[in-house]
Amino acid sequence: MTDLAVLSVASECWPLVKTGGLADVVGALPAAVAPHGIAMTRFIPGYPAVMRALGRKRTVHKYASLLGSPARILAATHDGRPILVLDAPAYYEREGGPYADAMGRDWFDNGLRFAALARAAADIAAGRAGLKRFDVLHAHDWQAGLAPAYLVYGEDALTRPASVMTIHNMAFQGYFGADFFARLELPRAAWSIDGVEYHGGVGMLKAGVKLADAITTVSPGYAQEIKKPEFGMGLEGLIVGREDRLSGIVNGIDTQAWNPATDAALAGNFTADTLDMRAANKRELERAFGLEPGDGPLFTVISRLTWQKGMDVLIEVLDHLVGLGGRLALLGTGDAAIEAGLHAAAGRHPGRIGIRIGYDEQLAHLLQGGGDAILIPSRFEPCGLTQLYGLAYGCVPVVARTGGLGDTVIDANFAALAAGAATGIQFSPINYEGLSDAITRTVRLFDDAAAWRRVQRSGMAADFSWAQSGHDYAALYRRLKGAS
Ligand code: ADP
Ligand code: GLC
Repeated sequence: MTDLAVLSVASECWPLVKTGGLADVVGALPAAVAPHGIAMTRFIPGYPAVMRALGRKRTVHKYASLLGSPARILAATHDGRPILVLDAPAYYEREGGPYADAMGRDWFDNGLRFAALARAAADIAAGRAGLKRFDVLHAHDWQAGLAPAYLVYGEDALTRPASVMTIHNMAFQGYFGADFFARLELPRAAWSIDGVEYHGGVGMLKAGVKLADAITTVSPGYAQEIKKPEFGMGLEGLIVGREDRLSGIVNGIDTQAWNPATDAALAGNFTADTLDMRAANKRELERAFGLEPGDGPLFTVISRLTWQKGMDVLIEVLDHLVGLGGRLALLGTGDAAIEAGLHAAAGRHPGRIGIRIGYDEQLAHLLQGGGDAILIPSRFEPCGLTQLYGLAYGCVPVVARTGGLGDTVIDANFAALAAGAATGIQFSPINYEGLSDAITRTVRLFDDAAAWRRVQRSGMAADFSWAQSGHDYAALYRRLKGAS
């Protein structure tokens, strides 16, 4: 029985539109909370790819002007669950990515594009847009950050739904100049340090953090870290001030989409009892990445190529990795300077380092199924999903000790190995010494085949399904409903 309705609003949702882990989480949440009596409806922008992918759509609301442009709210079904789409051609009907054009330049009107999404989300949740009122509005990241503000400053502020603001990444805050405020159609009162104003402009994530009834982030570790300037990126004071509203709920993974026993993207399916079958995937990777064949350790990377992900540090250690007999298969896209550095390393080590620039979901699965260890040297990582997929696929995660990485991987230190509890390698500091040392430790562990198997199996036995997190989100929604 479902007795509590939640509207989840975000700029991405797998498999319709994805640039990172946010999409995976938004895509998986409805099924995660359903067993706990929560009916979750997703609400996303009608990008061309989304409009094409969704079948029958029903118009539930029309705006003559949504922050200045006509728009419609459409209802459809996806994966057997309800989904709402904001069809606003002036904001979304353009080819390119959700945030940037094909050249990687941010759309000039990103503030307005996502303010419109947030405004419509608040209307829907409050029952002002042709649908029944929702109990809770769950906003993800800066793109949805104004949604709690539109509820607080809405005409039915006293009877409004409760709101949750989830921070998937503090580094992106959606900050726009003072002029932008006039476009938002918010009352004057919202232009204040207690509202959406932030350092003389509009802070979209700031608004959500300030005005939501609850704040979550995607791991307990990151929830602690963002209270400090190094990770809070300017919002640490606000976070500390609202600490009683903050919790960390670690992401789960979709265990149907990411199951090595049934994954159609693999050359060989396997379980913890048939790890030898992984060899077929390793051979396939060698072909795909132009690597010389071999049984030595094959490291993988699946990542945005950015400073956050420590990809500059990775470039520095590649000679060391190859010197130890390792090979690397990397899939990623991002900063041009990092791509150039990777290509240079691949040029120095033909057959040992293979680079694929681009975004390829199938290849990401094959890398998890065929690689021996996945490297994740992030400087900060709110949760991280690739280490969870690595654990599920016997691709041992080698991770920086930060945020969700620290919360989800058990370092193969002496005690953890002796207890059979180790699931990966953790390291710090996140620099040349830290990462090169971690790679040395990984290669040594790999050479002890029995110990390596135990680490792989412990990882595969760990439960990273949504069961616990789904329970935690459901409990949060219930608390909020009770309080409203
Ligand atoms: P973030 O969201 O910060 O990029 P996460 O680890 O939470 O990091 O999620 C990244 C998601 O995007 C994972 O599902 C990962 O497999 C996927 N991914 C990242 N880069 C690529 C790529 N180049 N090709 C395919 N999938 C990718
Ligand atoms: C962000 C974070 C990542 C997290 C993902 C989903 O992209 O960078 O750590 O896993 O959101 O919550």
